[in-house]
Amino acid sequence: MKNSSFLKTVKISLLSTLIISGISWNKKNDIKDANGIPLLTINAFTFSDLNQNGKLDKYEDTRLPISDRIQDLISKMTDDEKASMLIGIGMPGFDMVSAKFTTEGFQGKVPGAAGGTYELKRLGIPTVVVSDGPAGLRINPKRNNDSKTYYATAFPVGTSLASTWNTELINNVGKAIGNEVKEYGVDVLLGPGMNIHRNPLCGRNFEYYSEDPLLTGKISAAIINGIQSNGVGTSAKHFAANNQERNRMGINAHISERAMREIYLRGFEITVKEAQPWTIMSSYNSINGTFTSQRKDLLTTILRNEWGFKGMVMTDWFGGYRSFSVPFLKEAPTSDVTAQLSAGNDLIMPGMPSQKQAILDNMKSGKLSAAVVNTDLTRILELVMRSPSMSNYKYSDKPNLKANAEVTRQAAAEGTILLKNDKNTLPFTSKSTPLAIFGITSYDFISGGTGSGDVNEAYSISLIDGLTNSGFSIDKDLEGLYKPYVVDQKAKEMERREKNGGLLATPKRLLELELNKAIIDNKSNSSELALITIGRNAGEGDDRKVEDDFNLAADEVTLINNVSEAFHAKGKKVVVVLNIGGVIETASWRDKVDAILLPWQPGQEGGNSVADVFSGKTNPSGKLTMTFPVKYEDAAASKFWIGTPAENPTSVTYEEGIYVGYRYFNTFGVKPAYEFGYGLSYTNFDVSGLKLSSNSFSKSMTANVTVKNTGKIAGKEVVELYLSAPSKNTDKPSSELKAFVKTKLLQPGESQTVTLTLNPKDLASFVASKNAWIAEAGDYKVGIGTSSLNIKQKVNFTLAKELVVENTNPSFAADVKFKDLKH
Ligand code: BGC
Repeated sequence: MKNSSFLKTVKISLLSTLIISGISWNKKNDIKDANGIPLLTINAFTFSDLNQNGKLDKYEDTRLPISDRIQDLISKMTDDEKASMLIGIGMPGFDMVSAKFTTEGFQGKVPGAAGGTYELKRLGIPTVVVSDGPAGLRINPKRNNDSKTYYATAFPVGTSLASTWNTELINNVGKAIGNEVKEYGVDVLLGPGMNIHRNPLCGRNFEYYSEDPLLTGKISAAIINGIQSNGVGTSAKHFAANNQERNRMGINAHISERAMREIYLRGFEITVKEAQPWTIMSSYNSINGTFTSQRKDLLTTILRNEWGFKGMVMTDWFGGYRSFSVPFLKEAPTSDVTAQLSAGNDLIMPGMPSQKQAILDNMKSGKLSAAVVNTDLTRILELVMRSPSMSNYKYSDKPNLKANAEVTRQAAAEGTILLKNDKNTLPFTSKSTPLAIFGITSYDFISGGTGSGDVNEAYSISLIDGLTNSGFSIDKDLEGLYKPYVVDQKAKEMERREKNGGLLATPKRLLELELNKAIIDNKSNSSELALITIGRNAGEGDDRKVEDDFNLAADEVTLINNVSEAFHAKGKKVVVVLNIGGVIETASWRDKVDAILLPWQPGQEGGNSVADVFSGKTNPSGKLTMTFPVKYEDAAASKFWIGTPAENPTSVTYEEGIYVGYRYFNTFGVKPAYEFGYGLSYTNFDVSGLKLSSNSFSKSMTANVTVKNTGKIAGKEVVELYLSAPSKNTDKPSSELKAFVKTKLLQPGESQTVTLTLNPKDLASFVASKNAWIAEAGDYKVGIGTSSLNIKQKVNFTLAKELVVENTNPSFAADVKFKDLKH
């Protein structure tokens, strides 16, 4: 069959068929099916698949709607093939028997990718490659017997990106990430991470955006739209309420339906509606007694029926097992694949042979219905059909690393928050004396956290590199002391991590170098300014601690004390740089220093980004996305953290209900160190002229307000709209963020009028007893601020009659009795 003259004939006759039918050969990619999924290119199938009559099978005919073709494919699959397709291909580079990473054996199409879907050669179905995520593409930078490198760009961590409050910029970051995903041959990026910052100690907070669901949803939608504009997919994760790492697979989180809908799901809801991620990843934890990957209310009723999600759901890696070790135990039961697949969790990742067997057995016995199998396979195949792998995309392995480095540099600078700036300490431009730079992290910046979110970048710019690149000179004596110490300590730490789980080892803070007072004193003579970096690292698999982590450690306090005393004695200033992934304590030491910059973990260009802000090249405009409490115990969830028993908690109750983050601090009058939405600038802004489109609400409403740069330096400001709703029938936070806009770069004296929109759901609370989102009748207060506590303009409007905004289906039935915190 496969002789070349036959193929030529087929090609020609096929071409003419397509032309006759009005579909031109080159335009085939533009043709979309009813779901907006591009039809395949002709190259996507092999001619050897022509059936006996020399004709295309239905599934190969790109002129037919995708849905018809997929049904044809499924009808041609054996049960064994179906079962294979419902699970992933395992973890390339991971030995499923010894449960260890290996460079031997199966490495997959893109080494270092986290997994993929089943390749069904017989029917021309390729594997779809999925890879972490989220701060850039995580793949192996080097390959066996290959001299080329495959480095990806380490972008700022999620919290840093969200701190920009700039959806346009985040969309560009998404475009840059998507370019690397596509050009390295990957189909789906396993990100963004969208869990809510419930508590400062969650080890993965750095991957996530905020304590606020609106901000989370808007930033995720922006990045997903950017990534997916490349024709590759995303996996918004971890759906839902994966808010702690300790025993993340075995933990059962008791959460009220109201807190679920208003806090833990709302960001996903916004994202699904505004960006339609190709996939969603269910989380490890249980909610009210059932694994999320087995919850039909979550994965089907809410996600698809209520919100209109069109994509596919996959489990997190080994999701549905109570711990990582279980799948590798001999004779261990599999996850409950039937419950998972029936709930609408279409794909089981990374896929174990025992799971395939269980699927086959349950298909045979009828426990797993043909209808469920068909639905899940349809969604998996829809993903396959729209993937670059299916259209045989010829990826270059040469993404725009240079251009993307510029994108990450800008994003990290804009995500940097100026927490304190007494007497205009910053920007600092004097280059007359070398800068005295303290703190080991200054010499080895932390670009991002550990675990699956750790990108393999080609280089990382430290603070000293960045300042040097910007033309500052660095004190050489200090550099001479710090550098060898850092190299030595880091090597030991990496060795320790390697022995303790490698990628998933809990990172340890490196002890500060002890400097005697004489050296510091000496430097306060020769340098005009001191910089101290405080560093923190954390990641997947464990949470942070209060001592020596949320709170500064004794060696760090000593360093800040000694440097501040010496420099202040000479009338010189001290700047602290916080190279951290999560919130820390600042109240006890902030008065000792003159300025505090918070760049978070800013990606591979971090040192350059901080130097841009330090020198004034970029005027800081970042704002906090999570409250900085005065002390850890002030955070509402700290009382219910981390569940019981503390060492390996199996049960945690979210008794703080909807009072997460600023909703708690501001409603209960607990004064934070730095409030949600806070961040300073080198210039000043005036906010005035707040005007609503009407003083009574009907279908929607807009608020116009004018921002004027009244200072001397160009800058951007974030306009934050907080709404206070009547709370006669339902307990409500004092105010909630309902809209925000970032201005353009305003020159001194320049103004911009921005428009913020309120929709009915923004007025509503979820009332579980009525299964509905309801907006109470009464007076609503709009506050426009530049932080959640710095409200500059206020105006009221009324809602004449109670509004039932949306009816919902009863979900998340409680498994234990508890009451949400009320005001
Ligand atoms: C993480 C996910 C990640 C997956 C694949 C899991 O351990 O929780 O975020 O995408 O591994 O690496």
